Amino acid sequence: MNALRIGLVGLGTVGTSVWNNLRSQEELLSRRCGKALRIEKVAEKDRERAREAGVPESQWTSDWRDLALDPSLDVVVELIGGTGIAADLIRESLFHGKDVVTANKALLAERGKELTAFAAERGRRLLFEASVAGGIPLLLALREGLIANEILSLHGIINGTCNYLLSAMASRSLPYREALREAKELGYAEADETLDVAGHDTAHKAVLLSALAYGFWPRLEEVHTEGIQHIDPLDLHFAQELGYSLKLLAILRSHPTRGEIEVRVHPTLLRKGHLLSSVSGVFNAVAVWGDVVGETLFYGRGAGGDPTSSAVLSDLASLASGEVSAREVTSSSVRQAALSLRPMARIFSRYYVRFLVEDRPGVLAEIARVFAAEKISISSVIQPEGHRGKTVPLIVPLIVLLHRSREADVQRACRIIETLPTVKEPAILLRVEDLEPEEEQAS
Ligand SMILES: NC(=O)c1ccc[n+]([C@@H]2O[C@H](COP(=O)([O-])OP(=O)(O)OC[C@H]3O[C@@H](n4cnc5c(N)ncnc54)[C@H](OP(=O)(O)O)[C@@H]3O)[C@@H](O)[C@H]2O)c1
Repeated sequence: MNALRIGLVGLGTVGTSVWNNLRSQEELLSRRCGKALRIEKVAEKDRERAREAGVPESQWTSDWRDLALDPSLDVVVELIGGTGIAADLIRESLFHGKDVVTANKALLAERGKELTAFAAERGRRLLFEASVAGGIPLLLALREGLIANEILSLHGIINGTCNYLLSAMASRSLPYREALREAKELGYAEADETLDVAGHDTAHKAVLLSALAYGFWPRLEEVHTEGIQHIDPLDLHFAQELGYSLKLLAILRSHPTRGEIEVRVHPTLLRKGHLLSSVSGVFNAVAVWGDVVGETLFYGRGAGGDPTSSAVLSDLASLASGEVSAREVTSSSVRQAALSLRPMARIFSRYYVRFLVEDRPGVLAEIARVFAAEKISISSVIQPEGHRGKTVPLIVPLIVLLHRSREADVQRACRIIETLPTVKEPAILLRVEDLEPEEEQAS
């Protein structure tokens, strides 16, 4: 039986799992692919780590170029992370006639358009199933299983760290700092958590999902990105009481008649009862709405060595069996030219807005007047029990739920309301998402 000859670069969390699982699943994979999947060489800076993983000395090198330039290899697997050397490694490998498999969402979100175009130019494949939602075969589903569908919308919980933190804060009323400390102890958060909690990691993946779903690579810096680090437990509490869960979502939605794609990342209230709202802990889940299939839901582990290696092995198996579909992101460049990113100011959503106000007659009327002037319709107003401070008049929370409105109008109304003397702090604004596809709005 002939073999797919693989070079593996990086023996960290994912690389070591790929090394182990490729060996443990070797027989099964070769039976299913009709070809053996064989790691011929491993590049890892740390010699001791390679020894510990059981990589024979004859297969080890510290220099990734040995793999990129090796004419006997068919594919190079990049698992070192980062956006510097990893980019050189991918380009060199493609240039020298190899297919490339990577899990590097940070790099692809920045340079995926260029790198996939370069792969196509060289007649090679650049596959990245492991870069979004770890073990969930989501990219494969978008590429193959849903090929007959226009993707109307996609809502994803695709950062396990954030989902763990929000779940812990909501279910056990933990303050953010304490939930974060616990997540770090359990290995669910990095020592520097910024990339995750500020929403950047989710934004990286949202860019890749847009490329797969629409053939459209939005510029990362233009994707509206809010994290969870400023979530007040008070809002989690009120959200629960109102029948919502709070999740950090990547939201993609197409507006075909205007040639626009929405791609945004922010904490979002979801009506309890939708399956996505009950996804807790480090799990990922993605709801995809196709025009033919309707709603689909994908669920599983979004990170960790084994789940992520499962996705890397899936890419390798696709290459081995020659089953990578024609519908790759690179083939969508024609559509890309026709699409643009919908500016955040023109998205439509429902909203939860919390003000801290003086508890005196007329305050609500003043706020309602501003919303009305901006043609924003209020669906309900809640004045929860409890207050802050002992001053008279009391300072109390006032929650206003808004019907579907345009983001720019809501933001403008909030800025005006914040200038009212009876309003004490900047408004807390959370978007409330309905997962159904939207009717096209005039905007
Ligand atoms: N971990 C996950 O759950 C997960 C999930 C999805 C995607 N990913 C992505 O998968 C990639 C790898 O993540 P990871 O968690 O496995 O990272 P990691 O544990 O930090 O492993 C990276 C490995 O690559 C080695 N390395 C770095 N530069 C190298 C070079 N120039 N040549 C050879 N080896 C080099 C590192 O060695 P040193 O430590 O000595 O630098 C380390 O052993 C990243 O792009 C990440 O975003 C990870």
